Amino acid sequence: MIPHDPDRPQIDPRSLLRTGGERDLYGLICGTGYVPGEQVFEDFCESLKSGRAWLISGTRGSGKTAFPEALAQACNLAMCVVAGRDGLKQEEILYDWDREEQEVWMRENLALAKGLPDCEQLAFLDEARKMKWRRQFLILGEVGLAYDLAAEAARSTPRNPPPVLLLDESDKFGASIEDALLMPLERGLIYIPRYEGGCIGVADWECRPIVITTSNDLRHKLSGPFISRHIFTRFANPTLEKELEILRARNPKASSSQLALAIKLLDAVRGIAGMEDHPSIRESIDVAGAFVRDSVESLDHASLSRFFCYFVKTGDARELLGLQLDYLLAMTHSFHPTVDCWLGARDPEWAMKWNIAITL
Ligand SMILES: Nc1ncnc2c1ncn2[C@@H]1O[C@H](COP(=O)(O)OP(=O)(O)O)[C@@H](O)[C@H]1O
Ligand SMILES: [Mg+2]
Repeated sequence: MIPHDPDRPQIDPRSLLRTGGERDLYGLICGTGYVPGEQVFEDFCESLKSGRAWLISGTRGSGKTAFPEALAQACNLAMCVVAGRDGLKQEEILYDWDREEQEVWMRENLALAKGLPDCEQLAFLDEARKMKWRRQFLILGEVGLAYDLAAEAARSTPRNPPPVLLLDESDKFGASIEDALLMPLERGLIYIPRYEGGCIGVADWECRPIVITTSNDLRHKLSGPFISRHIFTRFANPTLEKELEILRARNPKASSSQLALAIKLLDAVRGIAGMEDHPSIRESIDVAGAFVRDSVESLDHASLSRFFCYFVKTGDARELLGLQLDYLLAMTHSFHPTVDCWLGARDPEWAMKWNIAITL
């Protein structure tokens, strides 16, 4: 669990939405450098308002993991994280009993019982056995913890905001973990056999953890019941304008020419037939960052291929792009209406360079 910062105020995104603060929430998230897609953000707001978990699928590097991170940062919320992998066990993510401590407890009580009169021993041990299933012997995994924190926040006055629970790369969970999550996702509760309290969590939809589940749609197909417990959004590739916004937010020091170079280059690469693994936002942010670091304002044959390593991920793709150097260079140097008008509207010098009429 990543705790919240006790020195900063916390914001409950659900309360913010209830009071009409959708744009405020958008602004708060943008303030962290993460620029959500409009449709994506609308879907997220629906999931928040309904209390349902939000399932986001999309290609690698499309900003799935970064969204909940940005939300937790923007609103100063605690965040529990389960990273999908093969062999993940229910007891790791929900709860487990501290068997060693339970044994010690029983040994201690057996010793104590021996010192009691015979007629009291049985009742004393019965009580000790019951107490073996108390809260102090329960070890919560990240999911258990998130539901428990949410319940604790719901009990506080004034009510504290719930935590974020990120179920990352859920396509690697496998059927048994998905099944184990069905109950908490639907009821908000995790039933624990023998536990003195019976269950942990909070049933009230308003108070539940803000659950964000991501999937790369690669390893396993998610089960119908698991998907149906979510509001679903597909992270589509952003428009070039949105990508420029993201690049600028992530590389605030980038000049217009560096932003233009990065996005024209990546846009051209994505358009080359035969490129199987398309560069995502992750790669365009990295390329723009490299241009800023190396103060690159224009590219030539030698410098262009130097930056291939940021977005070419196979030998074949590298060979393919090696044959397209002239085309890629031409694309990075020529006028691109979307890119250059977007930059021209924000940078008068850029508008002058390309003779773009700025309409105010
Ligand atoms: N909309 C966005 N705004 C800002 N940064 C983004 C956005 N989408 C992706 N990124 C950045 O791209 C990189 C990859 O995102 P990540 O969330 O790790 O991808 P995924 O989990 O989908 O594979 C991160 O550095 C992230 O901050
Ligand atoms: Mg991820």
